[in-house]
Amino acid sequence: MQKKLVVFTGAGISAESGIPTFRDANGMWGKYDAMKLASVEGFEEDPQAVLDFYNARRKNLLEVQPNHAHLVLAELEKQYDVTIVTQNVDNLHERAGSNKVLHLHGELCKVTSSRNRLDPNCIKDYPLDVPIRIGDKAGDGSQLRPYIVWFGEYVDNMDEATRFVKQADIFVVIGTSLVVYPAAGLVNYAKQEIPKFLIDPNDLKGGLPMGYQHIKATAVEGVDELVWRLEELEK
Ligand code: APR
Repeated sequence: MQKKLVVFTGAGISAESGIPTFRDANGMWGKYDAMKLASVEGFEEDPQAVLDFYNARRKNLLEVQPNHAHLVLAELEKQYDVTIVTQNVDNLHERAGSNKVLHLHGELCKVTSSRNRLDPNCIKDYPLDVPIRIGDKAGDGSQLRPYIVWFGEYVDNMDEATRFVKQADIFVVIGTSLVVYPAAGLVNYAKQEIPKFLIDPNDLKGGLPMGYQHIKATAVEGVDELVWRLEELEK
């Protein structure tokens, strides 16, 4: 039986692929107004501005590649039963070869209904190079919208994510500021007695969660250190 390795990732793991994070110095929320561009109210007030914002991010996803950190996590599936729980809406974990990826905040590659975001009949893959336009309709006839969890919207798969973290034999956090809930609360569900690692080049504003070993490095450098520490655990 392979050990269950659960990895909880945030924007930091995609930074070295060229996708800006949200709250670092040149982060997205420093340049754009999150409440205008990533909320239902913002979409109701100025849907074109929101669609422009997401269409640009969707198109950009075609121009970036998974980095070494994504690839190492995919490689670890040879030795562990790996589950990735990500806050990221990019598809870099999947493109790196990870087979079990749970997106807490939605996916840029998908669209849905603006009347009922979670209607399974309306959640569809949508080509990243095709802009979502005003007037495009979801299956229920409502305006098509990005399949993204906007601020204030319900994160529908937290129970599943929490279950994965609770069952982990090893838990790793990579590249998240741990400031957005309920996702950030996942760090508290990992069993006390298991090895827990956090890869981030910076110290977290909220401090290191209890019992975590901080690998103070970028995701690309940190995953090699992580592999070394996992090998030490197996000895
Ligand atoms: N490698 C690893 N970590 C990095 C790197 C890097 N190269 N560069 C930055 N980081 C770290 C930062 O130090 C920070 O702790 O990644 C984290 C990025 O934090 P945020 O920008 O807040 O991103 P994230 O935690 O994923 O945001 C959570 O907020 O806006 C919402 O829905 C959005 O999913 C997002 C959520």
